Amino acid sequence: MKTINTINKTITGRATSDGNGVNLSRLIGSASLSELDPFLLLDHFGSDDSADYIGGFPDHPHRGFETVTYMLKGKMRHKDSVGNEGVIEDGDIQWMTAGSGIIHSEMPEQTEGEMSGFQLWVNLPKSHKMTPPKYQEYKTADIPVEHRDGGVYIKIIAGQTKQGTQGVIKNDYVHPNYWDVNMPAGNTLTDHLPVDHNAFIYVYDGMIEINEESLKAGELAVLTAAENLQVNSLKDARFLVVTGQPFKEPVARYGPFVMNTMDEINQALQDFRDNKLTTPNRRT
Ligand code: FE2
Repeated sequence: MKTINTINKTITGRATSDGNGVNLSRLIGSASLSELDPFLLLDHFGSDDSADYIGGFPDHPHRGFETVTYMLKGKMRHKDSVGNEGVIEDGDIQWMTAGSGIIHSEMPEQTEGEMSGFQLWVNLPKSHKMTPPKYQEYKTADIPVEHRDGGVYIKIIAGQTKQGTQGVIKNDYVHPNYWDVNMPAGNTLTDHLPVDHNAFIYVYDGMIEINEESLKAGELAVLTAAENLQVNSLKDARFLVVTGQPFKEPVARYGPFVMNTMDEINQALQDFRDNKLTTPNRRT
């Protein structure tokens, strides 16, 4: 095994529209990278033109996985079929375990100005696809930030750095790392990612270099497994570092449902049609 993470594959996002006409860039879940076990989808949304986001994501179901929304800027109101409602804004994280099923909406709580952030879909193992839905939601002030030399800082949403800073999210399925790194130009970040995880880095501002290969804003690098992460910032850069333990289980997906077999997908569709998707957690 190589000792330093290298880039296995680089992809750029594909411009797409989802929900009620929200324009975004799809990284994972696209033709160039359909999945990176256990990650099923990564969308980057970002615009200061309200026409790109105002339609939001009206009521829609999910079953069989987790949706993770990390807001960089803006306000989004979520509301679900079991009575949960709230607003996430600048720097907040919502890690929603859809499990057996939930119907929710995600709508902008603003009519102008910038809205930007990410939605990541994380799979659930076969044994827990029908787990009761739950939320882990944290304000930005409650998410640990590790400061390093040169003005480098890492916001640790999930996982743990080499220096021991621990994120706020609990997840015993994929033991994820989800870091948001801010790195002024001319610095080097060294750390460690679990060698049995799949890992990617997504640059959303500036430019970095991994093992002498550059990666610029809008590009996602799938990393090879290695003991040591080493990233140089060629410009002032902001990027996500995300890792998770793969399940290596069959994936059957259809829109907002991700199960292991097509029979289970058909059951999800039937339950949705019968208004039983959120049973036994549905409030009537
Ligand atoms: Fe959703």
